[in-house]
Amino acid sequence: MNSRNIVIITGSSRGLGKSLALSFAKSITNPLDLVLVGRSTNDLAATKNLIIENRNNLETTCKIIEADLSDLSSLPQTSELIFAQNPQHNYSNAYFLNNAGSLGRLSHIGSSDDLIDFTSAINFNITSSCYLTSEFVRRLSGLHNIEKAVVVNISSLCAIKPFPSWGIYCAGKAAREMYHQVLAQENSKNHKLRVLNYSPGPLDTEMQRQIREGENVDKEIQAIYRDMYMNNVLVDPQVSADKCLALLLSDSYESGAHIDYYNVKADGSLDL
Ligand SMILES: NC(=O)c1ccc[n+]([C@@H]2O[C@H](COP(=O)([O-])OP(=O)(O)OC[C@H]3O[C@@H](n4cnc5c(N)ncnc54)[C@H](OP(=O)(O)O)[C@@H]3O)[C@@H](O)[C@H]2O)c1
Repeated sequence: MNSRNIVIITGSSRGLGKSLALSFAKSITNPLDLVLVGRSTNDLAATKNLIIENRNNLETTCKIIEADLSDLSSLPQTSELIFAQNPQHNYSNAYFLNNAGSLGRLSHIGSSDDLIDFTSAINFNITSSCYLTSEFVRRLSGLHNIEKAVVVNISSLCAIKPFPSWGIYCAGKAAREMYHQVLAQENSKNHKLRVLNYSPGPLDTEMQRQIREGENVDKEIQAIYRDMYMNNVLVDPQVSADKCLALLLSDSYESGAHIDYYNVKADGSLDL
């Protein structure tokens, strides 16, 4: 019997998350259960249609979970829906792509004192993200037939480098990355659990539009990203997603490592 894979992707209604869903749909020929999470039902349904079209007749299920991951009061119920499994399906590989993220307020530190901006960004980008990784580990990584459970935290250059006016975003990415490094360290002798902090490059997505158009974004930083957009050098999210999956399948990374898009070759090998 073909081994079965489950792939759970938060923020899969657009941008990198949607592209990651397509990468898995195209590359995994084994039976595949995809779980797509986001707020926009229509966009999630569009991702699902794309997946089904690209699976041809390969055995596939695709579940949509419409949820606001910044709402901590409903997070335990949302987690229940995300990680509930069909008891008939004995997974050999389980992937959790912890991708959903937001920029939060972009402005220089000291220019805004809105506590709600702080808490909503932190609830979503740190608390919810770390909680869901913990839930994945608890519920799926120890399943009887699991050969490999993989957690991918979608990180950023901002996890390791300060960017003026992106304080909350950088802090969130740094916290999230450290949490996933701890997970890797805790499992250094458990070769079935693999952790990757993948920095996907400057992507041509909605998030970049917010940087180009934000009123309070640091002007020098904004000029850099506007130039990249004008010169067409932002990274296509599909190219980045394909590289991320190639890297996962090649298994060429150290668990817990921060790996940047620009250091991954198309075949998934590293160019450090
Ligand atoms: N774009 C870049 O240049 C760049 C660079 C480095 C790292 N990254 C990281 O890459 C990841 C994806 O970014 P992207 O560029 O693809 O961003 P994007 O186009 O803005 O997409 C963000 C995704 O997250 C979902 N999302 C946002 N708020 C949510 C909430 N409260 N609850 C549930 N889902 C929510 C959105 O879906 P709904 O709106 O339907 O909820 C969407 O699917 C993020 O972690 C980001 O930090 C991006």
